Amino acid sequence: MTDRLIERPSGPFRVGDRVQLTGPKGKLQTITLREDGELHTHHGVLRHTALIGAPDGSVVTGSGGHEYLALRPLLRDFVMSMPRGAAIIYPKDAAQIIAEADVFPGAVVVEAGVGSGALSLWLLRALGSTGRLVSFERRAEFAEVAQANVETFLGGVPENWDVVIGDLVEALPATVAPASVDRVVLDMLAPWECIDVVADALTPGGVVLCYVATATQLSRVAEYIRATGLFTEPDANETMVRGWHVEGLAVRPDHRMIAHTGFLLWARRLAPGAVPPEQKRRASKSSYGDEDVELWTPGAVGDRQITDKNLRKRVREAQKAAGGARIAAASGETAPDA
Ligand SMILES: C[S@@+](CC[C@H](N)C(=O)[O-])C[C@H]1O[C@@H](n2cnc3c(N)ncnc32)[C@H](O)[C@@H]1O
Repeated sequence: MTDRLIERPSGPFRVGDRVQLTGPKGKLQTITLREDGELHTHHGVLRHTALIGAPDGSVVTGSGGHEYLALRPLLRDFVMSMPRGAAIIYPKDAAQIIAEADVFPGAVVVEAGVGSGALSLWLLRALGSTGRLVSFERRAEFAEVAQANVETFLGGVPENWDVVIGDLVEALPATVAPASVDRVVLDMLAPWECIDVVADALTPGGVVLCYVATATQLSRVAEYIRATGLFTEPDANETMVRGWHVEGLAVRPDHRMIAHTGFLLWARRLAPGAVPPEQKRRASKSSYGDEDVELWTPGAVGDRQITDKNLRKRVREAQKAAGGARIAAASGETAPDA
């Protein structure tokens, strides 16, 4: 256990710190500092003592005369390179999850599944030393990967983090009191299976947020949440981040980007018995009537419509061109342009 979360990962390098070294030709290596530690490469030896006490962002020289830029890895760097059991939530989505689910310092947060622990690290950072994170995972070996990753990054397992092995549907009611959880984040294949127990666990006004990879999952979980009548109308979005190359006069978007990771959908728990004021909504497209069919005319969906007069003109033009082509074919000539 550690209270390391409340320490600032800054200041001069200390024994036990993880340090990312950028060596000759941009090669990256991460080391954990020890008093007697040495990094051996074919460029020579770099003693850890050259780093201990040096400021973050220093350049140190190894025995072969090669220079290394030394930086503490950012959380973003760590999650992208840490061992994975299951697919991780990318930093761009984790940042949005924190914002849309409104994870605040001191919050009681539930997440499932824990997977590789990437989101756990972001959540722990956002809820701070006064909050509590309970992470559920049905596969014990994934939970082990997540625990090891969190321990590696934070230098220990935080006291305010519990990992529960089991399916959220059974394990959540057995672990938390009803209406005691501020935020729930679901990153799993079938989040709709967990919405009932999540509704019981959430405090009134609390937020459930689902991260899903496909549009069909998005639709299914949205309809499930809506049908319970226990939540506000769900909101959804996705985040696309396009990097830019900014160098001299070459200032342009990167040629490549990660175009799709997943969608976020979130809703808030209503107070028991609360029925929100009716919103003016169009009827669902899955059960449309004559009125809806009217709405889907080409003009309504932005399809430019041709007038009858123009259409008759086009017919005449086309027939004239066809007549010309017929005459030309009969005489063996090329048809003139209509
Ligand atoms: C994509 S991974 C989660 C990755 C994680 N958010 C991260 O950033 O590293 C999905 C995980 O959910 C777990 N899972 C799926 N359904 C579950 C359920 N009902 N209860 C608990 N865990 C579940 C799976 O075993 C898997 O490890």
